[in-house]
Amino acid sequence: MTTVGFVGLGTIAETHLAVLAEIPSVELAFVVDPDPGAAADLAGDAPRYDRLDPALDDHQPDLVVVATPTETHATLARQALTGSAARVLVEKPLVHDLAALDDLRSLGPAVDLAARVFVAHHFAFSPEVLWAADLIAGHPEWGPVSRIVAVFHDPYIADADRSFAAYGSSWIDSGANQLSMLARFVELTGCGPLHEASGGASSWRTASFLSGGTTGAALLRTSWEAVASSKHTALHLDQAGTEIWLDHTAVTAVAIQDGALVDQLANDGRTPRKVAHYRPLYASLLSATPDPILGLATAEQVLQLLDA
Ligand SMILES: NC(=O)c1ccc[n+]([C@@H]2O[C@H](COP(=O)([O-])OP(=O)(O)OC[C@H]3O[C@@H](n4cnc5c(N)ncnc54)[C@H](O)[C@@H]3O)[C@@H](O)[C@H]2O)c1
Repeated sequence: MTTVGFVGLGTIAETHLAVLAEIPSVELAFVVDPDPGAAADLAGDAPRYDRLDPALDDHQPDLVVVATPTETHATLARQALTGSAARVLVEKPLVHDLAALDDLRSLGPAVDLAARVFVAHHFAFSPEVLWAADLIAGHPEWGPVSRIVAVFHDPYIADADRSFAAYGSSWIDSGANQLSMLARFVELTGCGPLHEASGGASSWRTASFLSGGTTGAALLRTSWEAVASSKHTALHLDQAGTEIWLDHTAVTAVAIQDGALVDQLANDGRTPRKVAHYRPLYASLLSATPDPILGLATAEQVLQLLDA
């Protein structure tokens, strides 16, 4: 049995708690949220606290999940690490900047960060991403990934104050998803300058990577100035004339070669998009060998590039 303390009963908590409720070996030990109106129905009859510290005085969970506004991750992760022996799964990004990462690292070896800290890089677990990674691995003759274009839109501009408070900026929010998702395919090596517009509601930047030993280039676009959510990534394997188009919103994909569709991922429409991300994420986290994409090293690399 894995006992879980859950911190932050907001939007993404609904998905976490729905997926956790499906896992017979998981028991919710407590939930924490200072807002008494926050998603009470998700907590079931688990004891409820308005702060993490007293919850950790009363319980010894195996896992603490932090799903709060991005700027609060650092403080809450620190509390969970020093106030318990639990592993800690923090929503992405792990912290909001590199100074906060240094602060977490200052906890030193006594806390064993590498063994205890995990980050919910959920986009790397989405079905179309896993499908494309398998497809590429099965076709070594296609050669390296040479170019990537990722364009992520969320309709957050209509609620800009809340969005900046919860997520920091469009780049911090979606850039973390883009970079961790690309880590499934390539070895990221750097980012170009960050170009932001509308106070951080939109951004673009380039990234460089290695694939099969050769250097490739990515263009990463994020924006909240949109009427609906729409997220796409195109992977170009130019040597073979192959393009793989991922529709992250529809959770579908196609592979095109020399103008013909050569493979596809369809969707039966039964599983909500985020549930489809977090089911394999938790399966990996709770396994004996969690995927390195959830680990501290990937989180640190994502943060270095996010804050570059
Ligand atoms: N919304 C999404 O689709 C989504 C998807 C993946 C990851 N995330 C990440 O999850 C995190 C939360 O996003 P959200 O959309 O759920 O935000 P949200 O604003 O909907 O919910 C955050 C919740 O945390 C609570 N909270 C604030 N401070 C707290 C504290 N100190 N202790 C306990 N609870 C506290 C708030 O009262 C609120 O209920 C962000 O880091 C975001 O990047 C969000």
